[in-house]
Amino acid sequence: MATLVILLGLAALVFTITVADHSPLQDFCVADPSNKVIVNGQACKDPKTVQASDFFFSGLHLPGNTSNPVGSKVTPVTVAQLPGLNTLGISLARVDYVPWGINPPHTHPRATEILTVVEGTLEVGFITSNPDNRLITKVLNKGDVFVFPVGLIHFQRNVGKMNAVAIAALSSQNPGVITIANAVFGSKPDVAGDILAKAFQVDAGIIKQIQSKF
Ligand SMILES: *[C@@H]1O[C@H](CO)[C@@H](O)[C@H](O)[C@H]1NC(C)=O
Repeated sequence: MATLVILLGLAALVFTITVADHSPLQDFCVADPSNKVIVNGQACKDPKTVQASDFFFSGLHLPGNTSNPVGSKVTPVTVAQLPGLNTLGISLARVDYVPWGINPPHTHPRATEILTVVEGTLEVGFITSNPDNRLITKVLNKGDVFVFPVGLIHFQRNVGKMNAVAIAALSSQNPGVITIANAVFGSKPDVAGDILAKAFQVDAGIIKQIQSKF
């Protein structure tokens, strides 16, 4: 019995630790996209061939193209753009918003996000897990910082009169993004309409209409 309790305790501890990216086992492991070995993360380049350019990204001074239905654009700097991030458990993004533009409700399955407003005014929020589903929301001005805990659904909206810009840091080299509307209504193939009709408690025709937009 005591052994079982200890094992369960250890399992809980391991689970807690593995919520974030694993710790590096060497100084760095620059991602080598040409390596076809399937590993958790990406295979390392030979450290002797690594250059400063492997740890470098340029472009976050450039606004993203916000000409889209939601009026915002995320410019990510994850391991896909900056190979030196491999195994380091961290990444960055710039988000641009037109007035009333939104970064629609989404979650990062592998990362907590900390966001700061560089320009403008954002209304931000996240929603806690079931059963409370409490909305925690705030208006942020330039220089303000807000954190979105790992896995929780969150969003931003530009409530100012000018374009807004935010910089977000994320606790994974590859945070992942699940945009709720796109995932639920735009999956390939579609989730059966009657499943969504029952889930959202609306007529199947409304589901068809939403699905047609994604
Ligand atoms: C921005 O995106 C829109 C819609 O995709 C496109 O038509 C337009 O050419 C893009 N603008 C720039 C400057 O790339």
